[in-house]
Amino acid sequence: MSDSATTQRSAAGAIVTEDDVIRVEDLRLNFYTALGVVRALNGVTFNIPRGKVLGVVGESGCGKSQTGLAIMQLTPAAGRYEAGQVLFRESSEQPAVNLLQYERNSAEMREIRGNNISMIFQEPMTSLNPCYTVGAQIEEAILLHQTKDKAEAQQRAVEILRKVGMPNPERIAVSYPHQLSGGMRQRAMIAMVLSCNPTLLIADEPTTALDVTTEAQILDLMRELQREIGTSIMFITHNLGVVAQMCDEVAVMYLGRIVERATVEDIFYDPKHPYTIMLLRSIPRLGVNRAMRLESIQGSVPDPYSQVTGCPFHERCPSAMPGICDTIMPEEIIVAGSQTHTVRCHLYT
Ligand SMILES: Nc1ncnc2c1ncn2[C@@H]1O[C@H](COP(=O)(O)OP(=O)(O)OP(=O)(O)O)[C@@H](O)[C@H]1O
Ligand SMILES: [Mg+2]
Repeated sequence: MSDSATTQRSAAGAIVTEDDVIRVEDLRLNFYTALGVVRALNGVTFNIPRGKVLGVVGESGCGKSQTGLAIMQLTPAAGRYEAGQVLFRESSEQPAVNLLQYERNSAEMREIRGNNISMIFQEPMTSLNPCYTVGAQIEEAILLHQTKDKAEAQQRAVEILRKVGMPNPERIAVSYPHQLSGGMRQRAMIAMVLSCNPTLLIADEPTTALDVTTEAQILDLMRELQREIGTSIMFITHNLGVVAQMCDEVAVMYLGRIVERATVEDIFYDPKHPYTIMLLRSIPRLGVNRAMRLESIQGSVPDPYSQVTGCPFHERCPSAMPGICDTIMPEEIIVAGSQTHTVRCHLYT
């Protein structure tokens, strides 16, 4: 959780702390397609304090993955950054650098992707190379960043595989990705990320494809490693249960914007945005009257090709105020009595 004593606002009005690993400010991303312009990110602003885990939640298509990909400049080719900054600060001693000043394929971005910021994708098969053994792929990262000694790299790869809880790591090191189960591949991905020792890890639905037991093991492992190495994490997920288990703070996204941001406690016990409240009502809870039905969120996310006037959630919002919510875009405000809880909703202005 952010230390409220050190929480401040940047010149652009965003909440920041004295030592943010990353500050994304007013990021706007459009896709130019044959069918028209998709406004994927419409001014995304958030920070991640060093060593903290920020959960990013929201319905399918709201821009979670594109936010993560933009930080690494891995946006699909049809996408164009229209505005904004991605300020990355490698360590407390170094100044922040705007990553968007670099070309996507520049030496600087390649260096950052290899050394400083890593991403775990939803389906690890897409990021592990099927033609090389798991060990060879981890060794490659170690040889690139840590040592030039092949034997030492080999030994370190096995150590890392052991650290991520692989049974018989020597055997796994000489296996190809297709010879492993989904959970083992995900562990191998985490092992690869660890071999780079990243300052920031972007985990995009890292456990969605796994069964619940394996998911629990992988989450435990990630949390343990996060504590041990102090990596800051942007944790993208659909699953609010996972958020409660993993994260310090949560950002709730809707149609390419962050509509609420708070500590995990505040999001669960004192949610402000009607969208957050509805998201929370749509998850099952232990101990709640069994006869109570789970609520689904009425309507659907507006078409990203269209430009919405007013609050993008007004058409689905039970508390929408005619003449206000359908005409004026709400600004992000700090919730009264809080230092860190922000919301974009006219109910609180
Ligand atoms: N290559 C592309 N071309 C056009 N539009 C795209 C492309 N990739 C993503 N988009 C659009 O960008 C928006 C944000 O997509 P994104 O993948 O970030 O959603 P998400 O929140 O990660 O959803 P999910 O939960 O389903 O993974 C969507 O409207 C999507 O249609
Ligand atoms: Mg996604």
